[in-house]
Amino acid sequence: MTFEVSLPARGTTVELEFATQVPTDPGVSLVPVTSGDGLELPVTALAVEGLLEGLEAVGARGKQGEVTRLLIDDHLTLSFGLGDSDEIDEDAVRRAAGALARNLTGVERATVTTELGIRPIVEGLLLGGYRYTGMKTQPEEAEAPVRITVVGGDSAEAREEFERAVVVAESTLLARDLVNTPGNFLYPETYARIMEEVAGQCGLDVEVYDEEYLAVNGFGGILAVGKGSTRPPRLVHLVWDGTEGASSRAIALVGKGITFDTGGISLKPAPQMEDMISDMGGSAAQLAAIAAAARLGVGARIEAWLPLAENMPSGSATRPGDVITHYGGLTSEVLNTDAEGRLVLADALARASEDQPDYLIEVATLTGAQMVALGTRTCAVMGSDEFRDRVAEIGRAVGENAWSMPLLEEQEEELRSPIADIRNVHNSRNGGMLYAGLYLSRFVHEDTQWVHMDIAGPSWNTGSAHGFTPKRATGTPVRTIVEALSELAGK
Ligand code: BES
Ligand code: MN
Ligand code: ZN
Repeated sequence: MTFEVSLPARGTTVELEFATQVPTDPGVSLVPVTSGDGLELPVTALAVEGLLEGLEAVGARGKQGEVTRLLIDDHLTLSFGLGDSDEIDEDAVRRAAGALARNLTGVERATVTTELGIRPIVEGLLLGGYRYTGMKTQPEEAEAPVRITVVGGDSAEAREEFERAVVVAESTLLARDLVNTPGNFLYPETYARIMEEVAGQCGLDVEVYDEEYLAVNGFGGILAVGKGSTRPPRLVHLVWDGTEGASSRAIALVGKGITFDTGGISLKPAPQMEDMISDMGGSAAQLAAIAAAARLGVGARIEAWLPLAENMPSGSATRPGDVITHYGGLTSEVLNTDAEGRLVLADALARASEDQPDYLIEVATLTGAQMVALGTRTCAVMGSDEFRDRVAEIGRAVGENAWSMPLLEEQEEELRSPIADIRNVHNSRNGGMLYAGLYLSRFVHEDTQWVHMDIAGPSWNTGSAHGFTPKRATGTPVRTIVEALSELAGK
């Protein structure tokens, strides 16, 4: 199943099918190689006579990401390099399979075996094979998708591992498609409709709250950010209840859904402003994660609260200096309208916290300071000490780098405003990511284990493709969240 959603364009990827053994007509052989004492060939049922020598002769060295083509007696083999044989872990396999999937031009059908693990092969191929050509009327590479047979053996566990990996990868691709969609197509109303479509397709309950509901019920942060746009804001509530016969854990998910961030009256400079179509990446990841949890039957009650708004400058926009009242009553002085993510998240966190969930995971493309601190490929994780470290570790384990960062006591002073309870920015150039985290912490119930993930860098790749990561939307951190949900539910 792929998701049927109202988007003007979707990315394409390779097509996988599971097989218990190598088919009689395997097509192109996909074969892993490593570098050690020269080129090395790990076990694979697809190795033909003379393969290692042939690959060596055409210059294959087994480096990570290297793809080499070799024709022996009319049979084509593509080798994919994993790097040093002493350092092969799941992530090396996933990245190598991703690089392979980006180098399948001209291949129609292929077969790969899974001695190195089913999950990293499946994830690497599906994620690396993703290509978004948007609304080009003549895509440069209008090829039929490559069909790949994944040979996993005849155990039931193997087939299950394959199917789980496909579900998780499909969710990651859904998040990418949403994030890649331009802001004239994806705005709060259309985005909320897509969320309803996804919910319908995987058995989630869904409620979409419009601007009138938000006004009547005091969601001042979401309204303040949305009111500069002609496209009104929304709050989407999604529920997966998998507690029947399972744990009764309650987990809340919150994600930033700014469908375009101009900065508002505190307008951003023009260069690269177009990248701000990605400012809804946190909400896309949460939608994708709860959809995967439903399809996998995760045994917990999971509720997502996703605030959607477009941050525009206009005669009706929020001004610097305005004071707003968040859901739950806390007042905030808006000193910079470009620090809008924390304003919509505050309302959503306060609403989610009302139900006192056991765990709360919040994800946002929140600050440029995140990239100053950790670069563009590592998620920052803040929040309750123990849970924060656990989520960061899960991120690293699934190949979405993540690192724990502190919330600073000395910044609490800086939260103070002369005319409101708190203010949305501090007047310092230092520790901007941590200040944003501290601001958010004011809206979380003290009994809830929570994390805030700042994904400003790792969710959007402005550089070239690498491993299983394409240009533009990366789908990070969908796999981290799905893994965390599965672990918390205890399965
Ligand atoms: N959406 C941006 C953060 C961002 C920047 C994400 C670059 C991805 C790439 C956020 O709303 C923002 O504008 N943050 C400001 C906060 C500042 C005004 C305190 C920032 O980081 O400059
Ligand atoms: Mn902003
Ligand atoms: Zn933003």
